Amino acid sequence: MPGKLQIVEGVSIAEVIASNWQQIQTFQARPGDVLIATYPKSGTTWIQEIVDLILNEGNEEICRRSPTHERMPFVELLNLMKPGPEEVNAMPSPRVLKTHLPVQLVPPFFWRYKCKVIYVARNPRDTVTSYYYFDHMVQIHPAPGNWEEYLHRFMKGDVGWGSWYDQVKGFWEQKDQHNILYLFFEDIKQNPIHEIRKVMRFLDKDLPEEVLEKIVHLSSFDQMKDNPMANFSAFPSDVVDQSHYKFMRKGKVGDWKSHFTVQQNEMFEEKYQQQMHGSAMKFNYEI
Ligand code: A3P
Repeated sequence: MPGKLQIVEGVSIAEVIASNWQQIQTFQARPGDVLIATYPKSGTTWIQEIVDLILNEGNEEICRRSPTHERMPFVELLNLMKPGPEEVNAMPSPRVLKTHLPVQLVPPFFWRYKCKVIYVARNPRDTVTSYYYFDHMVQIHPAPGNWEEYLHRFMKGDVGWGSWYDQVKGFWEQKDQHNILYLFFEDIKQNPIHEIRKVMRFLDKDLPEEVLEKIVHLSSFDQMKDNPMANFSAFPSDVVDQSHYKFMRKGKVGDWKSHFTVQQNEMFEEKYQQQMHGSAMKFNYEI
């Protein structure tokens, strides 16, 4: 049975998350936690693997100790999957956690303790394309409907975790007030060593060049797609059904071009201009 969305504090959120809202908002972050924050389908799993590889100095075996969601728990879903709240509480520091919440809804303890936040944004055309396929795989969201319908829902923010426009702007506007490293999917794709070096410095790690190169290799799309600890295959099919589409789908910049019609592209651009008017942000749609 597909799930439902509910509006929480003005943002569309899966009902299973909304029903646990109080607990999510009081999540006990602690000093030293690192939070990976993204809008869904923006390269979350990719940056998670990069961060784990950096913290473990490129040690492939250690980074294959368990699936991504166990190594770096998902703040909104602690009540639905392992590790649960107690296990997460017992994890040694530095913990790395994941969220898709918009900046104003990030549990306040992360800000109170000045935790490091790594935000990754992806251009909205590739994001909605990726999300469309993902919403065919997961049960917590409504069925995606057809592509045209889904595009409209995305533009209205009527998808899980709400408006893409508000979220990418929200973190962008707050990045200098908090300890936020703001990255772009397209930059990581185009120049992984440069972007991974930024993450390494942000995490106060100093790794030799050959380790960095190893991290670039191990976090590449081809390596991750065949890594059962990084490709979502650890989830049972009633949670993430990969029988029709794969989580590690294309991993490209510009796949949107084979989905948008000319008319859809114009409509999407118009919405983008309305929503992002006045923002200094720039996205790459091809590299
Ligand atoms: P596509 O559906 O466009 O292929 P998230 O982890 O936020 O859900 O994002 C998933 C998207 O990131 C998917 O995009 C997936 O293929 C892509 N991705 C994951 N790992 C990647 C990697 N190492 N390199 C490039 N893209 C990657």
